[in-house]
Amino acid sequence: MKYYVANWKANKNLDEAKAWLVELSALIHLHPFVDKIIVCPPTPYIIPLSKMAEDLKIELGAQNLSQYPLGSYTGETTAKQLKGHVEYALIGHNERRVYFHENEEILSEKFVQAKMAGIEPIYCIRSVADKIPDETKIVAYEPVTAIGSGQNEDPEKVINVKNSLFLQDKKAIFLYGGSVTKDNAKAYIKTGEIDGFLIGSESLTARNFFEIISVV
Ligand code: PGA
Repeated sequence: MKYYVANWKANKNLDEAKAWLVELSALIHLHPFVDKIIVCPPTPYIIPLSKMAEDLKIELGAQNLSQYPLGSYTGETTAKQLKGHVEYALIGHNERRVYFHENEEILSEKFVQAKMAGIEPIYCIRSVADKIPDETKIVAYEPVTAIGSGQNEDPEKVINVKNSLFLQDKKAIFLYGGSVTKDNAKAYIKTGEIDGFLIGSESLTARNFFEIISVV
């Protein structure tokens, strides 16, 4: 089973988000899939989309969660509040590290909060230099040069990185992210070493996202 994770980032309004699921539903109807599809919408849309997602057998992920537990943390959304609404959460995405100054300590707190709430982190790293928490079950390798640039990294390079990672769980799922398109997706999967993708830009339209799934 392959993983296809859609990371919408801070895009779409609620109507567009719902329309995306309607369109995906029509495509799925034409080509039933057996893979795991995870959609990470902006936080306010998680609950309004949950019924539609469930009907389509699509799982939801949070793009972010708080490093803190419940309490006086204005503006935060905690893992406990997300519990039951998402199965997964992105942690360690480069955009969080850079724009929101999330360092290893904050990321490890987020990781712990997610795990305690039964939410599976999709732990994003940019290179072998980024520390991976021991209990990581899903890691997404996204080289900074490839994110949103149209310059995807060669599959061989990606595999070299995979082989140099220190992963406590040898059976961890390994995803690649960074300018994945329907034209380059197959080459990664063909290697037999990459379990799926974290997809940004090409996940913004249901058709492009589904084309990646169907070419693979
Ligand atoms: P991209 O984004 O597919 O647009 O490169 C990937 C990501 O940031 O997760």
